[in-house]
Amino acid sequence: MRMIDIIEKKREGNALTKEEIEFFIEGYTNGSIPDYQMSSLLMAIFFQNMTDEERADLTMAMVNSGETIDLSAIEGVKVDKHSTGGVGDTTTLVLGPLVAACGVPVAKMSGRGLGHTGGTIDKLEAIEGFHVELTSEQFVKQVNELKVAVIGQSGNLTPADKKLYALRDVTGTVNSIPLIASSIMSKKIAAGAGAIVLDVKTGDGAFMKTTDDARELAQAMVRIGNNVGRKTMAIISDMSQPLGRAIGNSLEIVEAIDTLKGNGPEDLTELCLTLGSQMVVVGEKAETLEEAREMLLAVIEDGSALEIFKQFIKWQGGNEKIVDDVSLLPQAAYKMEVPASQDGFITFMEADEIGTAAMLLGAGRATKESEIDLAVGIVLNKKVGDSVSKGDSLATIYSNREDVQEVMDKLTQFIDIEATKKEAPPLIYEVITA
Ligand code: URA
Ligand code: CA
Repeated sequence: MRMIDIIEKKREGNALTKEEIEFFIEGYTNGSIPDYQMSSLLMAIFFQNMTDEERADLTMAMVNSGETIDLSAIEGVKVDKHSTGGVGDTTTLVLGPLVAACGVPVAKMSGRGLGHTGGTIDKLEAIEGFHVELTSEQFVKQVNELKVAVIGQSGNLTPADKKLYALRDVTGTVNSIPLIASSIMSKKIAAGAGAIVLDVKTGDGAFMKTTDDARELAQAMVRIGNNVGRKTMAIISDMSQPLGRAIGNSLEIVEAIDTLKGNGPEDLTELCLTLGSQMVVVGEKAETLEEAREMLLAVIEDGSALEIFKQFIKWQGGNEKIVDDVSLLPQAAYKMEVPASQDGFITFMEADEIGTAAMLLGAGRATKESEIDLAVGIVLNKKVGDSVSKGDSLATIYSNREDVQEVMDKLTQFIDIEATKKEAPPLIYEVITA
């Protein structure tokens, strides 16, 4: 087989065979196919697209390019959730215990990463003693008995994707539906997911800026998953304003606890119920989304989801008393209010910029070397559609520095107040089940 023939075949708009796809993924991973040929093929894919069959084959070829996590010792369908990334997205912290309480095993491998706040692991490490260094035996035992565990990223998963993503980044080929969809799905499958639920965000704070693009990506991923034997569902949700109210590591732990108690922000609660319903269905614990939703509401109501969160903290070495006394979490030295400059209605809150404001306080990493301050962040006291009077607090800044002028300015600039009311955008645009 020759790479030049594969490039020409795709350039002419023909579908590649499974063998051809495996050939270039293997060759590119082991270095026998050079960057210039791979770049050319990526650009051909960008313009000529891929069939459903090619997308499925590409995904599995990337899965098989490195190690995979074997979760077969865990009973039941292992369901993983993926979000394309948002600001103040506290859903993972809530969904783990919530669906575990319905009997769905959550075997989560998670990372730290760069961003407005830390990743799920950083947030959990705001809890004194909490750690994610579990042996695979401990991990399996915990998921079997408690139904939820989080472990740090390990192993050389999907090396083909890492190398391809870096190349796409410098060759103008990131923004291709078949390439994005296979990239995301290969990582979930390599991490052991038996079923997958996807939260594709749309809006200014999201990777997919329009609902049409988000829909195309969501449908592509749902088809890939189902074509490779992993039940997959997706939703398209709004990320034009931050989700929930808290943006920051320990602040989001508090928000997750509130939500598990049934007192969380409306939007975060609704998103967790929607995604959670899909997880319970693909995890084969309910037949319909409606039945699943009833189960989720019941485990919030009777306290069992919160109890699992407590046990989960305890099993992983953390102080579970924080659940009943959140003042045991890291506390910021200063608390400052951001006053409304006029009477009116909140018409816009730019998610990305508000996230950056939280990062400026130290809630997230700007570079891999940055240290996170787990105590700091922002709590939004108003959301789009709310009315305000001059002087009302729009947001509370939690800081360990006294000088927060830059953050104050950013929040004032990116929270718009106008005289006429504007309805909040819908939270969930679409639910894609097949
Ligand atoms: N996120 C991914 O993991 N892969 C892509 O290709 C784009 C976004
Ligand atoms: Ca939040």
